[in-house]
Parts: sequence; C-alpha cells; structure tokens
Amino acid sequence: MTSSRPVAVIILAAGEGKRMRSTRPKVLHHIAGRSLLHHVLSAAGALAAARTAVVVGHGREQVAAMLAEQAPEVVPVVQDRQHGTGHAVRVALAALGELAPGDTVVVLPGDTPLLTSATLTALVAQHHARAAAATVLSAVIDDATGYGRVVRDGDGAVRAIVEHRDADAATATIREINTGVYAFAAGPLQTALARLTRDNAQGEEYLTDVVGLLVAAGQPVAARVVDDPGEAGGVNDRVQLAAAGRVLRDRIVEAAMRAGTTVVDPRTTWIDADVTLEPDTTIAPNTFLHGRTHVARGAVIGPECTLTDTTVGAGATVLRTTAERAEIGAGAVVGPYSHLRPGTRLGREGKIGSFVETKSADLGNQTKVPHLAYVGDAVVGERSNIGCTTVFVNYDGVAKHRTVIGSDVRIGSDTMLVAPVTVGDGAYTGAGSVIREDVPPGALAVREGRQRIIEGWVSRRRPGSPAARAAAAAGVQAPGSAGDPEHPDEMPQPSAAEAAVPIPAHQGDVAHRSELPHTGEGEAGIAGIPGAGSRT
Ligand code: UD1
Ligand code: CA
Repeated sequence: MTSSRPVAVIILAAGEGKRMRSTRPKVLHHIAGRSLLHHVLSAAGALAAARTAVVVGHGREQVAAMLAEQAPEVVPVVQDRQHGTGHAVRVALAALGELAPGDTVVVLPGDTPLLTSATLTALVAQHHARAAAATVLSAVIDDATGYGRVVRDGDGAVRAIVEHRDADAATATIREINTGVYAFAAGPLQTALARLTRDNAQGEEYLTDVVGLLVAAGQPVAARVVDDPGEAGGVNDRVQLAAAGRVLRDRIVEAAMRAGTTVVDPRTTWIDADVTLEPDTTIAPNTFLHGRTHVARGAVIGPECTLTDTTVGAGATVLRTTAERAEIGAGAVVGPYSHLRPGTRLGREGKIGSFVETKSADLGNQTKVPHLAYVGDAVVGERSNIGCTTVFVNYDGVAKHRTVIGSDVRIGSDTMLVAPVTVGDGAYTGAGSVIREDVPPGALAVREGRQRIIEGWVSRRRPGSPAARAAAAAGVQAPGSAGDPEHPDEMPQPSAAEAAVPIPAHQGDVAHRSELPHTGEGEAGIAGIPGAGSRT
C-alpha cells in the first residue's frame, strides 16, 4: 500500500518572470508578508513530504539565499537553462536521489501563492485512492487563453494535456485547464520524462506531455477539478501580484473575524500571514499588522496603525502608531502619533503618548511618557513619569550612551538627560534642566538660571506695536520711566517669588558648567520644579 504522504515535492521556480519587470526573481516578490515562494512552500508543508526541491534558474543566488535562511530543509536544484517544465522536473528528480516506483511526487509552480494546503491534500488523497500514475489538478475557467487544456474522451477519462499554442480550434474551446499542479507515481513519471521530446510550438520538454505518454502506456491518469479556480492563478505581473495580495488579505481578515477579532473595515485592514490575534481583539480601519506581530485578548489596535513584529498585551490600546519590534504591555496605552522603534518595551499599564519616539527603551510597569519626547537607549523603572519635551540625549556624535532612570521618578518637562546618566528611585528633575550628572535617589536636580525681567522693554523697543498697546492698557508706563533705557539688558535682582523657590543643596552639582561651553551662566529661563508650576 502506498503511504498517504508524498515522498517528494518539486516546486518549479526557474523561470524569469519577465512581466514583473524586476531585478528581483518573481517568486521573491512579497504579499501578506511572505514571498510568493514562501506561500507555496507553506501550503506544500501540509503534505509533510520527506524531501522538497525548488528548481531555480533565473536569480538562483537570491532564491537559494532565501531558502537557506527561511527553509533550510529545502533543496535548491539549479536548472541552468530553462528547457521546459518536463526538463525541470527531470533535473529535480536527479537531485533528489533514489525513489521507489510507487513513491508519490507532487509538482507545483512557485508562483501560485493562493493555492491552499486543503487543495493539495485533497489532490494527493484522490491520487492515492485511485492508485493513479498521474493526477492533474485542473480548473474550469471562462477564459482559458494561454493555458494547457485537459482533453478528455467520450467517457470523461483524461487523455492528454495540450498547450494553448499547440491546440487546434476544437481543443482551444475546452475550458478545463491544467493548473500546473500534479501528483505522480515516481516510476511511471521517470519513464515518461525520459521519453519527452521538444517537438512542439515552444521547443521545450513539456511536463504536460507526460500525461499523454502515461495514457498511451495504459497507466491510470486522472484529473481533479479544483473547487475554487482562483486558487490556481499564477502571478505573472504586478497587477496580478496586487490582486493576489487582496485575495490573501480577504482570507486572512475573514479567518481573523471567524476566530473572534472584530475588524471594523476589512478592506483597509492588512494582516500578514504570520500575524497572530487572540479572540476579542479589535482592529480599527487603516491598520497594517506585519511580520510576527501578536495581539493579545481585548487589545484595540487602530485606526491607522502600522505594527511590525510587535507584541501587544491584553487589553492594550494602540492608536495611530508606527511600531517595529516593540513590546507593548497589558493594559498599556499608546498613541496617537507615537513611533516605537526596535527594542521598545512598555510595561503593564504604561503609556507612550502623542509625538513620542522611543528606541531601545525599556519602560517599566505604569511608567508614562505622555507627550512630545524622545526616549532612546534607556531603562526606566516603574511608575515614573517623563515630562513633556524631554529628550534622552543618547548620542554624542561618536557613540550611543544609556540612561537609567529608577522607579517613581518624575522627570520635569523639557529635561535633557545627557547620557550616560542615572537618575535614582524617587528623584525629581526640574523643568528645563540639562542633567549631565547622576541624580541620587530622592533628590531634585535643577539647572537654575535666574529669570531676568527687563521692565518696560516692549514699550521702549517695540513702540506702537500691538504688544506695546497691550502693555500700556495693562498700566505699563511710557518709555524712560522704568529701568535704565541705556542699559536695558542689565540683570535685575531676583524677585521675591524666585528667591523663595527651595533649591536643594546639591544643585550646584547638577551641571559642570566649565565643561559645557554652550550652556554658560546667566542664561534666561526658569528651572521649574514639578508641583511648583503655579509660581509667577
Ligand atoms: C504551464 C503548463 C500549462 C499550464 C500552466 C499553468 C507546461 C508545458 N505547461 O504553462 O499546461 O496551464 O503552466 O500556469 O508545463 N519553469 C522552470 N523551468 C523551465 C520552465 C518553466 O522552472 O524550464 C517553471 C516556471 O518558472 C514556472 C513554471 O515552471 O514557475 C511554469 O512554467 P511556465 O513557462 O510559466 O509554463 P506555462 O507556459 O505557464
Ligand atoms: Ca505560467
């Protein structure tokens, strides 16, 4: 008895794919996150064949490199010159080694990404059930132009396959076509291949001629009509590539919906073949999930997200975000307008808000970066808050450096954290501070430049302007009445309010100004302190 598993799978992919107009081999063009060849390999994978060969020719280095990386068990077989599909199978069989006469060989083209494992499994099952020497997967289509026709006799038995270019008028009216997918018994296949000629319109060894040779030899040959002819469609140009991409998109999105994902707008939702979604997830419109992205139960993604190789935890919300190789924790909130670059990890119930870019950033549970910040090469503990317009200054022009922030830290708005630098647990930084030296746990670090008030400056320097009129309306007196007009930039004394701000003892250590030519003393600005923002 024949085994139910095919012994060998041969995928034909040596052709040039001229109509793609591409330097990349046709079978390496991608849809749904995989190359065409990868889709075919994964459909064929369900057959669990002992050996799989891919016949390569044009662009063989690129195809072989892809196989080595993504399917190392597959044997690339070089067909130097493309003498036809029969020749290609002959070359592949020679490379695959000894086969018993009854072993099953499945042959399929490398450019049919829509072919399903169910169809291949059914083909092989029928082939075995009928103990056929060859079983052809056929399709009945309206316009058979260009395809080989399946010729049957009065009893419906398959007699031959005739290529379009070799067909007479009567044969050309046949609408049952050869899909290019077959199951063969190895022995009869090898015998027939040895007898192929190039005596045809294209001067090639046609694999299709094997069918007629087997019939003539009295071998049992059958055809199985595919349920959905769309499955057998090959991709020959970029229009067909996009069309196949849409079909895969529809299939993947439908499968996701059936498995418990709400997809608000299937037409604008693109999910790659290797993405995994748990039940009770929601995908809003214009969302692209690429690579090995995983979305856990209850998470809501979109609208307008592009997530690549990203993991989203249960119950998280991700809105208008681009993320790549990022990990978003359970219950976290991301977006809108966030950019999570590779190596971002956001803990449980954390937040990355609007206009925030992160990279190689490990943010602990409940840590928040709510708005306008860059966080790169950083580790932040739990429950810390990174204020608006904070920058993790990680690059000195030569090397990248790390910033380590503890737990329960509050980084004031507009803090520049100049790496390498460490901020201890429970520490604060004042708004507008440049932090160049480590901040001990529980400390406040501020860069305190006194605020200068030049009284009456607007009235003197911008007379007649709307601002001057507003100042006058607010009771500011005419020029010359306040300060010295000859020395308007003179440093005024600190106000009582400023003097009252508590400055921690170590604040002189916050920045070594002598090392920092661009941050001289006396710069204008307030080193604000979180929680002290109401002072004037
Ligand atoms: C082939 C079939 C035709 C069928 C059609 C389905 C033959 C003679 N004809 O025609 O009956 O209806 O597919 O799409 O088989 N290839 C090689 N080496 C070669 C020649 C081809 O690897 O020397 C590969 C191609 O890269 C392609 C596949 O075999 O993946 C089919 O070859 P192609 O030239 O496209 O055959 P068709 O003319 O389309
Ligand atoms: Ca073809």
